Amino acid sequence: MSISDDETKALRDAMVREVELMAAEYARAQRSSREDLHGHAHKRGARSARGLAPRVLAALSAVPRHLFVPPDLVPDAYLNRPLPIGYGQTISQPFIVALMTDLLDLAPSDRVLEIGTGSGYQAAVLARLVDTVFTIEVVAPLAERAQRTFADLGLANIRTRIGDGSLGWPEEAPFDAILVAAAPAEIPAPLIQQLAPGGRLIIPVGGKSQQLILVEKRRDQSTVLREIIPVCFVPLTREASPPD
Ligand SMILES: C[S@@+](CC[C@H](N)C(=O)[O-])C[C@H]1O[C@@H](n2cnc3c(N)ncnc32)[C@H](O)[C@@H]1O
Repeated sequence: MSISDDETKALRDAMVREVELMAAEYARAQRSSREDLHGHAHKRGARSARGLAPRVLAALSAVPRHLFVPPDLVPDAYLNRPLPIGYGQTISQPFIVALMTDLLDLAPSDRVLEIGTGSGYQAAVLARLVDTVFTIEVVAPLAERAQRTFADLGLANIRTRIGDGSLGWPEEAPFDAILVAAAPAEIPAPLIQQLAPGGRLIIPVGGKSQQLILVEKRRDQSTVLREIIPVCFVPLTREASPPD
């Protein structure tokens, strides 16, 4: 199904408004949790507790999500929901894409590693904000489809690799930020190693019950971990999933 540019713009604007409302709700919850704890959790998710950065919302609004979903799901592309993309995988919910992006507090000169390319949507949002995005996907047909979408959209600052992202991309390390879009039971050590001093890693961790964790690597190489919110991601696997 095809949709016109005007329809797409109206749907995109509505989706971004919903993401903003959800982010405001999240920020309120963060502030009240800080008050409840009398300052003990004062740094928790501090960046997004002030609301999402306008440049993150602008990036979300600029990326045509309907080009990243299967043709039969185009009518649902601008719902604030995860959607199936084949191979048992999903394109993440726009609110989660925005929140994870925001928590990385990106600078335009940053080099960012993403694990779990999936449809390529999250990488496309990151690519509007930073110098270079390196993205790794373990399911080859998904990586190849995402590469075609990046080429169609002229996104020349995304580099794609097929393989196990839990090993990171050592040849291109260190990274200013790392975003993991699938949940391991524990944070893979190579990802911490490949984070630059002062860098940030955002990652869902757990099994049936998962928490989004923000890791900050200090200049002295020590790390600070913060729990952000409960989330529900597909597992980070070590092998390619069976074909559809
Ligand atoms: C929730 S989806 C990612 C959504 C994606 N960021 C997007 O915008 O569409 C998680 C992806 O992680 C991939 N994945 C799972 N384990 C992986 C691994 N070890 N290395 C790389 N990718 C992995 C899955 O195949 C899936 O495509």
